[in-house]
Amino acid sequence: MSDFVNQFWNWYVILLVLVSIIACGVLLWTQSVTTPGKGDTTGHVWDENLEEYNNPLPKWWMWLFYITVIFSLVYCVLYPTLGSYQGVLGWSSDGQWAKEKAKADEQTKPLYDKYMKMDLKALAADKEGVETGKRLYLTYCMQCHGADARGSKGFPNLADNDWQWGGEPETIVETISNGRMGVMPPHAQLGAETIKDLANYVRSLSGLPADSVRVTKGQEAFNSVGCSGCHGPDAKGMHAVGAPNLTDKIWLYGSSEGTIIETITKGRTNQMPAWKEFLGEEKVHVLAAYVLSLGSGAGSQ
Ligand code: HEC
Ligand code: HEC
Repeated sequence: MSDFVNQFWNWYVILLVLVSIIACGVLLWTQSVTTPGKGDTTGHVWDENLEEYNNPLPKWWMWLFYITVIFSLVYCVLYPTLGSYQGVLGWSSDGQWAKEKAKADEQTKPLYDKYMKMDLKALAADKEGVETGKRLYLTYCMQCHGADARGSKGFPNLADNDWQWGGEPETIVETISNGRMGVMPPHAQLGAETIKDLANYVRSLSGLPADSVRVTKGQEAFNSVGCSGCHGPDAKGMHAVGAPNLTDKIWLYGSSEGTIIETITKGRTNQMPAWKEFLGEEKVHVLAAYVLSLGSGAGSQ
């Protein structure tokens, strides 16, 4: 299908291509009609007596050029070269891609069929299955979660046993298939003092140094302003909304007072893309098994 908005551009491209090719042919022809050996010089003289002759190119060379011109014209007929003309061979880049993909899918199908029949936990313990998962991981997931799956600021570590959304096999499949959107709402309205109290309380939960007066005030605020609604009254997090456990030493954004104040004040929004449509159920299955194998320590290095 052509993307031209109207016929003008279609003809513009067709004419531009044809006129250029034909102009090359005409140029060649005008260059080859001068008779060789007449002894015309260009008039340039160097080093007193070195003169430049104005002879045409050798015949065999000219023919090479003619052949390229003829080749271009034949190519224009066979392939989609002229505007929205499809070419007699019916070739298209989409078509070639689809054919190659279908061939590759056919080759890997028996393997994925076998994996699909395996339960996720069994697949996570299968050496070959984990290797396949790792290859997929390194292609599609590494940019964000890191080559060793240990994540970085804002991108969760997948190799530990701490889960924002849950580490059950079905939950991991759900996360990879449909993606996740973690939303920590901004709380600037609480005021700088209360936010500082909350930050001290959050730090105290992980055993980090904190101001004890602020910790007491922060604990009260934590329950009264709604933090516990998402992170739980014990601050151990809630998988249903992706709220992280605040009592462990694992941080998505950072544990310094400044970073925690920023998290509470401005909020954080974070998205894990959905993969089911792009990769298909089979690949998601194998990737989930790979992620599971990391958590169990089997696949981590
Ligand atoms: C564009 C960056 C990006 C890519 C690519 C990406 N992820 Fe994620 N992923 C994230 C972010 C961000 C989160 C955290 C979402 C949140 O905060 O709720 C996440 C969360 C997850 C979680 C949930 C972790 C938990 O603790 O519950 C899993 C599992 C996961 N990703 C697996 C994968 C897999 C497998 C792939 C490759 C198919 C992948 N991710 C590719 C950004 C990415
Ligand atoms: C609507 C649910 C919700 C509420 C209410 C909420 N949070 Fe969060 N919080 C989250 C989510 C979800 C995340 C993870 C954000 C992400 O995925 O990037 C988070 C992240 C955090 C983090 C970052 C943890 C890390 O590992 O870096 C801190 C700290 C935090 N919240 C503290 C609080 C405090 C204090 C309050 C109360 C003022 C609060 N949260 C209220 C849902 C909530």
